[in-house]
Parts: sequence; C-alpha cells; structure tokens
Amino acid sequence: MAEKYIVTPWDVSGDVDYKRLMKEFGIKEIDSKLLKRIKKTAGELHPFLKRKIFFVHRDLKWILDEYEKGNKFFLYTGRAPSGHTHLGHLVPWMFTKWLQEKFGVELWFQFPDEEKFLFKDNLTLKDTENYTKENMLDIIALGFDSKKTKFLIDTKNADLMYKEALKVAKKITFSNVKSAFGMTNDVNIGSIFYTAMQAVPAFLPSVLAGKNIPCLIPHAVDQDPHFRLSRDVVGKIGYYKPASIQCRFLPALQGSTGKMSASAQETAIYTIDDEKTVKKKINKYAFSGGRDTVEEHRRLGGRPEIDVAYQWLNFFEYDDKKLKKIYEDYKSGKLLSGELKKVLIEKLNKMLKKHQAAREKAKSKIDKFLIK
Ligand code: TRP
Repeated sequence: MAEKYIVTPWDVSGDVDYKRLMKEFGIKEIDSKLLKRIKKTAGELHPFLKRKIFFVHRDLKWILDEYEKGNKFFLYTGRAPSGHTHLGHLVPWMFTKWLQEKFGVELWFQFPDEEKFLFKDNLTLKDTENYTKENMLDIIALGFDSKKTKFLIDTKNADLMYKEALKVAKKITFSNVKSAFGMTNDVNIGSIFYTAMQAVPAFLPSVLAGKNIPCLIPHAVDQDPHFRLSRDVVGKIGYYKPASIQCRFLPALQGSTGKMSASAQETAIYTIDDEKTVKKKINKYAFSGGRDTVEEHRRLGGRPEIDVAYQWLNFFEYDDKKLKKIYEDYKSGKLLSGELKKVLIEKLNKMLKKHQAAREKAKSKIDKFLIK
C-alpha cells in the first residue's frame, strides 16, 4: 500500500516518496551526464550534488547550454518570513551561495512578507516584517556577494512588482490554482493571488534589463507547484520559462522525511540556538537508529538509514572520507548512538558559532542588499 504523504508549498508531512513525487510533479533526475557538465563548469561538485540532496530539475540542461554560449543566467530564490531560520532553511541557500560563486551570477532573493500573513492565522504583517529582518541576517551571513545580490521585499518593492504580478495573474484561473495547490473554495482571496507574486522575480530582471535573461531557481521540492504553474505563463507573456534545481528536505529531528516545521520548535534547530540548546535538542529528540542495548548494538550494528544524526551529517559533514568512516563504524556497531550524536553536536555547534558571528556582522550590511 502506498504510504500517505503530503507535499504542497504550505504543508509537508509524512514519509515523502521522492520517486513518486518526481512522477507526480514531472521533474527530472539530475543524471550523471548533467553532473559531469556541472563539474566541468564549476570545477567541482558541491556535496549536495554528489549526495543527491539536490536531485531533480527542470530545464537545467538548457541553462548550461546557454551559459556555455556566454549567456549567463541569474539565480532566484526566496524565503517567506514566518519565524526564525532553522537549519532546513539553510540547505537551499548554502547551495545557492555556491552556485553564485562558481558561476559568477546575480541572485535575486525574494522575501514575500505577505505570504505567511495570508496563509497563517496567527501572524501579523508586523511579525512578518520583523522576521524579514531576522531572516536577512542569516542569508547575508552565508556570504552572498552584496554587489551581485538583490533582496526583493514584496510589500516594500510593490512598485516594481505589482504590475508584473498582474500580467501573470491575468493568465491564471481560480481552477488552475485549485488544482495546482489543492485549494478549496473557503481560502481567502489573497492566497489565491499569491502565486502571481512568487512568479515575478523569475522574469523581473529581464523586464528591468530590457532583454531576456535565463533564470535558474534553486529551491526545495515543495515549491515546485508554484513554478509548474507560472512557467507556462511566464513563457506566454514573452520571457524565458524559469529553470529549476530542487532539493530534498532535511529530515525533522524526530525522524520522518517530512521537512522540519518552524511551528514545532523541538523538531528543528535554529541558527540562533546556543550550544546547550543544540546539545539538548539532539540528545533528547534526534531519532536514533541505534539498538536497545549496547550489547545488541555491538552485535547487530546501527541503522544509519533511519538515524537522524547520521542523516544530518550527510547534509553538513562535507568531508566524504570522514562521513564514510562514521557510516561504517556506526553500521558495524563500533560507534554507539550517543557517540554519533556527539559528532553531530560538535559539527553543528562549530558551524553555528561561525554563522552567529557572521550574523552579528550582517546587521550593518543589510542596506547594501536592498533595492533602491
Ligand atoms: N514560498 C517560499 C517560502 O515559503 C518563499 C519563496 C518565494 C521562494 N520565492 C521563492 C522559495 C523562490 C524558493 C524559490 O518560504
């Protein structure tokens, strides 16, 4: 029997069957041929590519064809401010940073500060405004080039965006939105319109430059329905259909493949968590693939496939050799679950210490990223 799971831009739950999702969404695997081409151009492969964390795409081949002809693309991604940033959010952004660096391209980063206001009951526009600032610090802390990165804030940059959103909205019907997102008749009308706003940055740089520029959108698979819907529309109004490169979710601490939920505090680790909190959350909540007793663990070995500490190291320990050794030692029973958790705790705390220092410095840099 098929397992139940849900993947929409507003709800991800259950054990996501990525193979089935690929078929349902009509997205293609990043095959070895594409990986070779990326490696050739970028000079290396990001661990997220080697490890199939970024694993599917739309029109990536076309993006590389154009790039090789000297026609550079721009990157577009975003974050709907609804709370503090957690490690799951960082995954696509870290990768986007790598793409910017390796391909030397511009990034347009959208903050749809109306999105979660419209989709959640308990968030005011004041809240989303505050979180926009908080989230910006995390993005800047990852090291994006301020000369090549622009922050688009929907309510602030409405003068640039609204006219373009109208062109998109006119070509999308209520029934299109219903079938793409599973919306029902009782949703508010703001949320029906919202997808038009998310489409805009995919072609706004072309509008402003007065010429067509290819667009590549790195994002987690849950955002695909937006772009599935708007790709055709953007094509119809005279711009290139945006391409995409998409990633899996960082599993929740409790261990389903569904993404971490910002509304359930204990399933996630936040970029502002201190060392003690990180330690406590991992020790207390990270789902273990270890055995019930040490004796059994030594005899049967651990199960890295279902162990969240191991899964997270797969995302954040970039050293292939180290990771392989951890896998083998855990699988053979040599490494205990508590010891594995300790490896993760140290890795994360090191990473967060650096991030938090950069985040402090980012406070004086926000201005450089805003559109004037
Ligand atoms: N909808 C996204 C979120 O919930 C925010 C977003 C806007 C985005 N534009 C995007 C994400 C482009 C990825 C790519 O956070």
